[in-house]
Amino acid sequence: MARSEKLRAPRGTFDVLGENGHRRIRLLDDARAIFGGAGYDYMETPIFEDTELFARGVGESTDIVQKEMFTFEDQGGRSITLRPEGTAGVCRAYAEHGMHKLPQPVKAWYVGPFFRYEAPQAGRFRQFSQIGAEALGSDDPSLDAETILLLGELLERAGCRGLRLRLSSLGTGDARRAYSDELRAHLRAREDQLSDEVRSRIDSNPLRAFDSDHPGTQAVVADAPLLLDRLAPEDTEHLAEVQALLDGAGVEYELDGTLVRGLDYYTRTVFEFTSDVLGAQSGVGGGGRYDGLVEQLGGPPTPGVGWAAGVERILLASEPDGGTSRPDVFVALDEGADRHAAFRLVTELRRAGVAAQIEQAGRSLKGQVKHADRLGVRLTAIVGKGPEVSLRDMQGGDQQDVDFETVVARAVALES
Ligand code: HAM
Repeated sequence: MARSEKLRAPRGTFDVLGENGHRRIRLLDDARAIFGGAGYDYMETPIFEDTELFARGVGESTDIVQKEMFTFEDQGGRSITLRPEGTAGVCRAYAEHGMHKLPQPVKAWYVGPFFRYEAPQAGRFRQFSQIGAEALGSDDPSLDAETILLLGELLERAGCRGLRLRLSSLGTGDARRAYSDELRAHLRAREDQLSDEVRSRIDSNPLRAFDSDHPGTQAVVADAPLLLDRLAPEDTEHLAEVQALLDGAGVEYELDGTLVRGLDYYTRTVFEFTSDVLGAQSGVGGGGRYDGLVEQLGGPPTPGVGWAAGVERILLASEPDGGTSRPDVFVALDEGADRHAAFRLVTELRRAGVAAQIEQAGRSLKGQVKHADRLGVRLTAIVGKGPEVSLRDMQGGDQQDVDFETVVARAVALES
């Protein structure tokens, strides 16, 4: 590339600018409030992990591990992967720090960047952000219901439109193995109608056939047996309890035996929120139970349940509310103004909790007042040479000469 050519962000990535920044912060504020109220601690795990964590955790036969991971060797010759999802890291941390010794369940939430080498399209990126929640150390169905409710609450508060919740169970143990064999036989008998990809995964991951958009495969799974009809009694009971709790909370959902997820660790409950306004990438957030994952990563047997939702998809599915955070006061500089005094004034206003801005681009006074108007401030404080400030009410238009203290007092009164 010629040296002077303009550089662009890598394919599948984006910059968060202006109004989008405000919308993301507001979403995080909502998340913090919702999780705080439900006793979920904020947690961070590394953005890169040993590749083996995802190979073992997410599953060798998944799209994510087979073709979507950003994997590289570091200078020490270790295989490192940029995290494609958060649950494996949380479970690794739980095992590594002996968190099973803490009072159970351990509840955590997280937010941050995730990476998948996917073909970019609307709502699908190579770097995206997830907000997620995990509850480890109990298989109580109330945790399944609780996590679903928390996600529903977050999406509601964000103003997501056209939401739908699908719910199913992937069962456990012998019943699931027996079902997988039955499904394999069904697929094998109709192998010639399947997509190459589904055919190549009949052995390793037959359930993925339900997720295919290949017409032949769809016809084959349309009359396939469903795992939901083959669950072991204790898994049926667990699901019924989750449903009863959701019903009691007035949550609408659709029981959908064709719901499968793109990660291998799920047992029992799985769920997904979709939005009708999103088009092809309609999944806003989803998750489920993963009762074998911690043990699979070398920890003690530990049940767990949780979800993750895509920040970009939440924002795409919701109406921008246009409410950027507006300053209340603009400190303008008249000709020959005492700039140090003006800077002191804006600092005092901010220390008093007032959102305030000051002229920093050399505009004329007329230009500054116009700029203040565009910002939508309530008051403009024009600092001149003397100790008095000319305070203009931007709505009423009247203007008074006052001292600094009065500016701060008037501004504070606006905030309350
Ligand atoms: P997931 O369904 O793979 O689950 O991802 C969760 C959400 O992340 C999706 O619903 C979507 O909103 C967003 N997402 C995924 N890939 C992309 C992408 N390429 N671009 C934009 N957004 C994307 C998980 O990751 C599990 N860890 C969820 C979980 C937590 N299960 C149990 N605990």
